[in-house]
Amino acid sequence: MDIAEQRRHFPALQDKTYLNFGGQGPLPTPAITAICAAYEQGQVWGPFSRRALDWVAEQEHLTRATLATTLNVAAADITLTQSTTQGCTIVLWGWPWQAGDHLLLSDGEHPGVVATVAQLAQRFGLTWSTCPLSYCTEDTITILEQAVQPQTRMLVLSHILWHTGEVLPLAEIGAFCAQRDIKLLIDGAQSLGVMPLDVTGVDFYTATGHKWLCGPAGLGVLYIHPQYREYLQPTHCGWRGLQGFTYQQPQWSPDGQRHEIATTAWELGVGLQASLTLHQSWGTATQRYGRLTQLAAELWTQLGEIPHLMRLLPHPPPCGLVSFRMANYSPETLAQKLEQRGILVRAVAAGNCTRASIHYLTTGEELTQLVQALRELQGGTDPHVGTPEK
Ligand SMILES: Cc1ncc(COP(=O)(O)O)c(C=O)c1O
Repeated sequence: MDIAEQRRHFPALQDKTYLNFGGQGPLPTPAITAICAAYEQGQVWGPFSRRALDWVAEQEHLTRATLATTLNVAAADITLTQSTTQGCTIVLWGWPWQAGDHLLLSDGEHPGVVATVAQLAQRFGLTWSTCPLSYCTEDTITILEQAVQPQTRMLVLSHILWHTGEVLPLAEIGAFCAQRDIKLLIDGAQSLGVMPLDVTGVDFYTATGHKWLCGPAGLGVLYIHPQYREYLQPTHCGWRGLQGFTYQQPQWSPDGQRHEIATTAWELGVGLQASLTLHQSWGTATQRYGRLTQLAAELWTQLGEIPHLMRLLPHPPPCGLVSFRMANYSPETLAQKLEQRGILVRAVAAGNCTRASIHYLTTGEELTQLVQALRELQGGTDPHVGTPEK
């Protein structure tokens, strides 16, 4: 299991230290080739020909099956989406809310999800609030117990908080919700492709292929527990969710496809399948997660030795996100200075922090380069910038 060999498949990993998997994963050459070949083939056949349409149907089936495998669920429970956020909106707008219902979020949800909830609350007379889970200093369940209200109908949480890298205990939260008849919507943008997933006890789990799975942008996934598949009203809906074309009463598909909408870039599916096949050629999901957390822990430890640098988490991250603040530099400036040196990290406004995303594809040398660059910047010895920004 040679990591150098695996990295050779990624053009973006050849001449830079790419630590932005949590923003967008790089596409491997087999995925790029497969997508281009699919577009070319479609044009050779004629994009709306019987052959092309049969191919689309087959690819749709394979993509759904592939994503079901990554989530460890049945293909019938999968709704293909374009993004994590779209998965959230299908659930949030589809739930039959009553005025006065309450939604509980963590204090670290992604802005797109928060905006959707705020809009929903305004439209339907709901209330919503947040609870402090970004830095789980207390027991998660204790915090949730203090925050839920008699009217709380849904908990909207990230599996992995995108700014701090805290991982929330899904099984315990699922049991907590089940006891109170609260529905659980999980944003898995930062967890799909990072760790082996078990969505038992989760009602809705949404994620995307374009981050840690290194698939193309524009293809995401929503798991809907079969119990709620029909209860969820088709709101973001269209012809793809129908069982057949009819101008009478619509017959919605019996499976997760009922919540899909319309024409999309079907070619992206072959790209995601190719990315997944490549990952699977390097160990098991557990082995990839093990390597990633070991590297993240090494970085977290080394960052702890840099003066005037504060790590957001008080413990090694149980995922690939390592976030920190460094004195004298805004997160934006720090990300820019690092990019000048070929090291790509991102500033996350939500945590006022700089975030390095560590993948199983990351190497120890890349961590050394990042730590060395931070030391030079902190010491004012960076050849690219001179003195630190005040
Ligand atoms: C936790 C979380 N949720 C949602 C998103 C948005 O993802 P998408 O563009 O797939 O909707 C992100 C992207 O960074 C994220 O980190």
